[in-house]
Amino acid sequence: MKALSVIVLAGGKGKRMRSGLPKVLHPLCGVPMGRYPLESVRPLRPERIVVLLGHDGERVKGIFKDSSLLFAHQPEQLGTGHAVACAMEPLKGFRGDVLVLSGDVPLITTTTLKALVRFHRREKNTLTFVSTIMEKPHGYGRVLRDEEGRVCGVVEEKDIKGQERAISEVNAGIYLFCSEFLGKSLGRLRRTNRQKEYYLTDLIQIAFEEGGKVSALTHSDPVEVMGVNTRVELSEAERAMQERILEGLMLSGVTIKDPSSTYIDHGVKVGRDTVIQPGACLYGDTVVGRGCTIEEGARIEGSRIGDGTTIRSYTVIEASRIGREATIGPFARLRPGCRVDRGVRIGNFVEVKNSHIKEGTKANHHSYIGDATIGKGVNIGAGTITCNYDGRRKHRTIVKDGAFIGSDTQLVAPVTVGRNAYIGAGSTITRDVPAGALALSRPEQKTINGWVRKRNSRE
Ligand code: UD1
Ligand code: CA
Repeated sequence: MKALSVIVLAGGKGKRMRSGLPKVLHPLCGVPMGRYPLESVRPLRPERIVVLLGHDGERVKGIFKDSSLLFAHQPEQLGTGHAVACAMEPLKGFRGDVLVLSGDVPLITTTTLKALVRFHRREKNTLTFVSTIMEKPHGYGRVLRDEEGRVCGVVEEKDIKGQERAISEVNAGIYLFCSEFLGKSLGRLRRTNRQKEYYLTDLIQIAFEEGGKVSALTHSDPVEVMGVNTRVELSEAERAMQERILEGLMLSGVTIKDPSSTYIDHGVKVGRDTVIQPGACLYGDTVVGRGCTIEEGARIEGSRIGDGTTIRSYTVIEASRIGREATIGPFARLRPGCRVDRGVRIGNFVEVKNSHIKEGTKANHHSYIGDATIGKGVNIGAGTITCNYDGRRKHRTIVKDGAFIGSDTQLVAPVTVGRNAYIGAGSTITRDVPAGALALSRPEQKTINGWVRKRNSRE
């Protein structure tokens, strides 16, 4: 078996994106676009993978954390041919096939790359590249064929002449080269074109003229091999990737009521028999367990949701861990750092931040729980507020197991409410409450009998 190495081109600025952010850093389903080609290439077990950096190289390098990757630098962006020439240094001494991919072709699959390698080796080609038929080929290099239908070159959009514009077979920018040919031919590229760039695509004509075996593997799905050059194409790629993610989840046993309004980032995991209602969004490295329900419009980011839990409509959860069989929302907000245990119920208009809420506790209406540890089986009455900030520092509130916090209570932290203690409604608690005690702080009720009649008679 011949050896395989890979070059991923990520040196361009991506001018057509009109952005301060290098193109390959633009997120696609939550992941920088440049990471996708690398993921697809991994299962081919290449001997070496070189990432070619250029424009804003250090920033781009940040998304490639894998220590096995090799990096090369292109000091000036003089075209894709120049980029590959700059990437050859780490491939010194390598003999075999070199797969060249662009960082802006994110939808390419392992299956297609494997087919390309197989085809190239079976045909004993010098150069094989992927082409596809596009209804709107604008912006892509067009594949030139001679009278016998053999590939003899690729002409770039900007250099197209006359009839060539009508060619619908385009170059997808995915190439497999025999390393000897690549090594000796890169130096022959010239900048004699409209863009004054070294075009990698000129190697196709060079190989053909030399009598080398060149062919295109024509892919039937133009979407998979599309390049992202503009934000319009970014949104098209996003839609296609999103469809792929949702389909994968549905086939693995997740019900998605309305895929067209559901949004799930690449890498989110969802367990079997979970039902996702319209408008739900799951972001980052979120993991949702089995048999959960995620209702309309819920937004969950970087969080874990245990089995059998229901996240009700319009709830927002960030960087938190929710246990099993809990119910959160509707309209609840869990800010970062929450740990919510099994069977907890958090209801409407409850905000929780950096708090641990233990098993079976309920906070059903209109409360703020911040920097708190709330024990098991606690009842938090409507309108309870932890006053965790004194204007300078944050303080913790501790409520022990079985306590009952009456409605409209302010717990002025730092403060502890003991086990099974009761707090009367409307209290402002500034000192610790011992276990089993009742604490209340409110003026006693004054009732004046017959007051209304007396007032009326005065008028
Ligand atoms: C390229 C092909 C075109 C093909 C299309 C497919 C050339 C000359 N043209 O055009 O035939 O149809 O891809 O998507 O190759 N890059 C560098 N350094 C540079 C220039 C580019 O690293 O100096 C990188 C870019 O970051 C990008 C890739 O190479 O990842 C492709 O460059 P891009 O400018 O997008 O090429 P296209 O115009 O799309
Ligand atoms: Ca491109």
